[in-house]
Amino acid sequence: MKKILLIICLLFGVILVFNSCNKNNSVKTDSGSILIGLVMPETHVDRWVKDGASLKRFAESRGYRAEETFAGTDQNVQNGQIRTFIKEGAKLLIIGSLSEGIIPAVADAAKAKIPVIAYDRIIPNSADYDYYITFNNYEVGTFQGKSIEDGLDLKNATTANPKTIAFFAGAATDGNAFFFYDGAVDVLNPYIDKGVLKVIGPYPRTSKDSAAFKSIATENWQAAVAEARMKDLLANEARDVRLDAVLAPNDTLARAIIKACLDDPKYSGGNLPLITGQDAEADSILAIKNGQQSMTVFKDTTKLAEAAIILADQILKGEANPVVPGATLAAGDLAVIGDTGKKIVKAFLLQPIFINKDNWNIPVQAGYFTPEEEIRLK
Ligand code: BGC
Repeated sequence: MKKILLIICLLFGVILVFNSCNKNNSVKTDSGSILIGLVMPETHVDRWVKDGASLKRFAESRGYRAEETFAGTDQNVQNGQIRTFIKEGAKLLIIGSLSEGIIPAVADAAKAKIPVIAYDRIIPNSADYDYYITFNNYEVGTFQGKSIEDGLDLKNATTANPKTIAFFAGAATDGNAFFFYDGAVDVLNPYIDKGVLKVIGPYPRTSKDSAAFKSIATENWQAAVAEARMKDLLANEARDVRLDAVLAPNDTLARAIIKACLDDPKYSGGNLPLITGQDAEADSILAIKNGQQSMTVFKDTTKLAEAAIILADQILKGEANPVVPGATLAAGDLAVIGDTGKKIVKAFLLQPIFINKDNWNIPVQAGYFTPEEEIRLK
C-alpha cells in the first residue's frame, strides 16, 4: 500500500512539475513575442491578400507575433483596427492606407509611441510617421504608357489617321493613382500634343488637373465602377469611334473594362482596344495569354513584404538608419516620393517589372502564385 501511495505521489509530482514548465513556457512565448499589426486596405484586389499573408509569414519567421486585418475599403473600419492594435499593445504598425481619413488614427499611434510604416501607399498629410516602403509607382505608369506607345506604333502615327485612347485612373484617395497616371501621360502627352493620339472622354493633362482627374478616377478601385464608366463611354463619347487603347491602371479594372467592351458589338469579336494593367493577377495573366489584355506590371509583393519586415525589425531594434536589402532609399529627384505634404519620410523603393505575352512566366517563376493559381496558368 505504502509503495502504491509513493508511486501516486511521485506521479503527481511529475505532473505538477510538467504543468508548471508548460505554463512557464506558454507565458514566455506569449508575452515575450512582440506584436506587429498588419493593417491592409481591401481584399477585392488580390494582391492585398497575398501582402497580408506574406507580411505575417516574414514577421513570424523573425520571431514576432503578427496579426493581419483588412478594412474592406472602409476608412472607419481601418481606423478601428488601428486603435484595436494600439489597445492590444502592438509595438509597430504596417499600414496600407485607404485615404486621408486615416490621419487621426495614425496620430493616436504616434501618441502611443508606436512606429508606423506606410506600406505601398503613402499616408498623406501626416507628420506622425517616418517610413514608407513601396515600388517605383511612377515607373509602373511609364511601363503602361510605353506599352501603348509601342503597341499603337505612335512614333509613326499621323494626324491624318490619329489613334484613339480613353483614360482611366485608380482611386483619387490613393496617392499611388496619381503616380501611375503621371508616369503614363508623361509618355503619351507628346503624341496628344502632336495630334496623332486623340483622347476620347475626359483628359487630365496631369494628375494635378483635379477636376478632370476625378472624372476618370475609380472610387475605391472598384471593378463595378470602372465597368459602368466604360459602358457609359462606349454608349456616348466613344459611340462613333473605334478605341485603339484604354489606359487601365490595374488588372482588376482592366478586366472590368474588357468585360464592358466585350458586351459592345464593335469589340465583341475579340477586336479589343489595347488595354493595360498592373499587379500580375492570375486572371490577367490568362487575359494576356489569350490576347484580351496587352500587359501588366509585376510588383513582387512577396519581396515588398519581406523588405517591410526587415525594416520593421531594424526600427524595433532602435536602428536609426535602417538599410533594406533589395530596396533603394529614395534620394535626389525621387525623394519627393516620401513627401507626405507635412514632412518628407524615408521612402524605400522596389523595382516593378513589365510583363506581356512574351515574359508572363516571370511571376510564376518567382513563386508569386498559389498552387491553385499555378494550375490555372498552365
Ligand atoms: C496598389 C496597386 C493596387 C491598387 C488597388 C494601389 O495602391 O499599388 O497595386 O492595384 O492600389 O488595390
